[in-house]
Amino acid sequence: MKKLKSLAFVGLLTLSLSAQNKVPLYLDESKPIEDRIEDALKRMTLEEKVAMCHAQSKFSSAGVSRLGIPDNWMTDGPHGIRPEVLWDEWNQAGWTNDSCIAFPALTCLAATWNPEMSMLYGKAIGEEARYRNKNVLLGPGVNIYRTPLNGRNFEYMGEDPHLASRMVVPYIHGVQSNGVAACVKHYALNNQEVYRHSINVNLSDRALREIYLPAFKAAVQEGKAWAIMGAYNLYKGQHCCHNQYLLNDILRDEWKFDGVVVSDWGGVYDTEQSAYNGLDMEFGTWTDGLTEGKSFAYNNYFLADPFLAQLRTGKIAESVVDNKVRNILRLTFRTNMNSKRPWGSFGTEEHALVGRKIAEEGIVLLQNKGNVLPIDLNKTKKILVVGENAIKVMVVGGGSSSLKAKHEISPLDGIKKRVGSSVDVVYARGYAGEKSKAQDGLATGQDIFDDRAESVLISEACEAAKTADAVIFVGGLNKNNGQDCESHDRSELGLPYGQDKVISALSKVNKNLVVVIISGNAVAMPWVKEVPSILQSWYLGSEAGNAIASILVGDANPSGKLPFTFAEKLNDYGAHALGEYPGEKGNVTYNEDIFVGYRWTEKQKIKPLFSFGHGLSYTEFAYGKASISSKNMGEKDILTVTVPVKNIGQLTGKEVVQLYIGDEKCSVPRPVKELKAFEKISLKAGQEKNVEFKISIDDLKFYDENKKEWVAENGKFKAYVGASSTDIKSVLDFELK
Ligand code: GLC
Repeated sequence: MKKLKSLAFVGLLTLSLSAQNKVPLYLDESKPIEDRIEDALKRMTLEEKVAMCHAQSKFSSAGVSRLGIPDNWMTDGPHGIRPEVLWDEWNQAGWTNDSCIAFPALTCLAATWNPEMSMLYGKAIGEEARYRNKNVLLGPGVNIYRTPLNGRNFEYMGEDPHLASRMVVPYIHGVQSNGVAACVKHYALNNQEVYRHSINVNLSDRALREIYLPAFKAAVQEGKAWAIMGAYNLYKGQHCCHNQYLLNDILRDEWKFDGVVVSDWGGVYDTEQSAYNGLDMEFGTWTDGLTEGKSFAYNNYFLADPFLAQLRTGKIAESVVDNKVRNILRLTFRTNMNSKRPWGSFGTEEHALVGRKIAEEGIVLLQNKGNVLPIDLNKTKKILVVGENAIKVMVVGGGSSSLKAKHEISPLDGIKKRVGSSVDVVYARGYAGEKSKAQDGLATGQDIFDDRAESVLISEACEAAKTADAVIFVGGLNKNNGQDCESHDRSELGLPYGQDKVISALSKVNKNLVVVIISGNAVAMPWVKEVPSILQSWYLGSEAGNAIASILVGDANPSGKLPFTFAEKLNDYGAHALGEYPGEKGNVTYNEDIFVGYRWTEKQKIKPLFSFGHGLSYTEFAYGKASISSKNMGEKDILTVTVPVKNIGQLTGKEVVQLYIGDEKCSVPRPVKELKAFEKISLKAGQEKNVEFKISIDDLKFYDENKKEWVAENGKFKAYVGASSTDIKSVLDFELK
């Protein structure tokens, strides 16, 4: 009997154990994600499904606590992990463990023209998000630089769809390698901040397809982004956060996107449209009957109780919410419930060095007459540094990309640290900006208030410049409203705060003048002929001063290239010469169509101040004669363009060799040429490399609005090999037959 009892006990034990070991399918990581999704879905109540589709706090949305499915935690932004905010307020939570590494702005990343830097960047920022237990990073942004006035261009990747496409893909791969979703934004046509919540953008299908969508398409189809954020503005009369055309027809049906569509914060206006037009997760809504920021309005969200009510009555079929929940569960299984994902790391020296490396590769040497740069420290006793941007905090402010950084090395501190005690570094303010300690309403921790008269500041700087071996003016824009800042645009192309006067005055006192512009946008340079050396430095983040100093003294050889055109005046941009900006009565029309940036200046034969793709080096590169594998191309052929490039200077340097294609004759207007390939190469002094580019028929196509597809017309084409869009070294003719 006893034996029987013990056998029964063992039998029961194994039964219960096996029952215990048999995890529910949705928790079994050995099973395909799609099966896990279906299993989880059928276990969920209607209320739990709806709760997943909208925010529960400023930056989180509900999981299913009953089933052990975690909440989703979003975080800004594209340049670093935003400090924790309170549950239901924009105010910071005041944590003491959330000071991040601030990486360079994405204009700087684009200016590296180096996809390896994008991978490094994405991996590092993804590690910071992972460590902070955020499973969705609200970045990168890839809206095209249509006007130099757009307050958020610093968050984006320039004026050219090919460059932005090549640079955004590795960033997404890097972020997502951490089990954190990149959320590409703002989809689509958010090219200005003025009227951003209400402006309806009108443009041709060609401009949409050829200019404004490619980077999003690459992000989805090559980057495999797990999330995308709808833009605030409208397109075809519908808000982009619930837009049939952009979200259902293009994103889902054409591009086969399988991630989640997240609204921008406060970008949702309608329950039915949200239900049917592709939105999955609603955030930041200020709903009907509730003012902005009223507490705990979450049940009033359009995809909350109003949505639940219509599902309950059957007015909206449950399959509608099921499809949203499938996308959200897919996000969860790819991130929070992926037990194999790495653990991340935060605020590390390693991440700081990644930021510095990207900064050094992104700084653009625009001009260097008389070779004032690099500064030879052996012949330099006194350096004068002038300008508010030499000392000003730049990681705080600018809108949602604002950061609480562990450190931010100012240009002045970076220069002092680098040149050491052997050189006397003197500082003069030169000009004073906003009369406020805050920047975009946020405390910067600085009090650089200076109310001395402009003339006093200029004469002080000029006096000091008389006895300096080198003068470094550090100016540009900043992160205040009306500068490089969200929800506002600039009102002019020129530098603010009277900087032009200071620069001109200094140029008359000391010829060894270097102007360092810190900005995310092009600025007018009336003094360009008076200043020997000009560096376009971007918002460089934590390591800003160190990166600028290393370029100034030649530790790093500049290799950045402009990701957008620096035109002389506002009307040299298509958006201002022909297009509407900022639009009126709720509409803006992109009359300039596909002619954005260099596409416009070349069509109009306008000589820009500095061209798209321009950037100098401390060494010199000689281009040999390029060759093409054939003069004739069938539609299945791949042509090879080869060009020898040699470093004929004394220093190792990097060069970005660019390939543009021009269609000689076409039934529709086309730009003179368009960027179709580029490669950044490193060459030692005297070294030569053959750079090869492949041309396929896809590189010749334009979007045919009638056929609604991409087509290439037979005829003559030109391949342009250059060091910028205007510095063309070889032109190769070929014909598509
Ligand atoms: C902001 C921005 C968006 C940001 C979001 C959350 O308004 O448009 O880029 O990620 O709201 O802060």
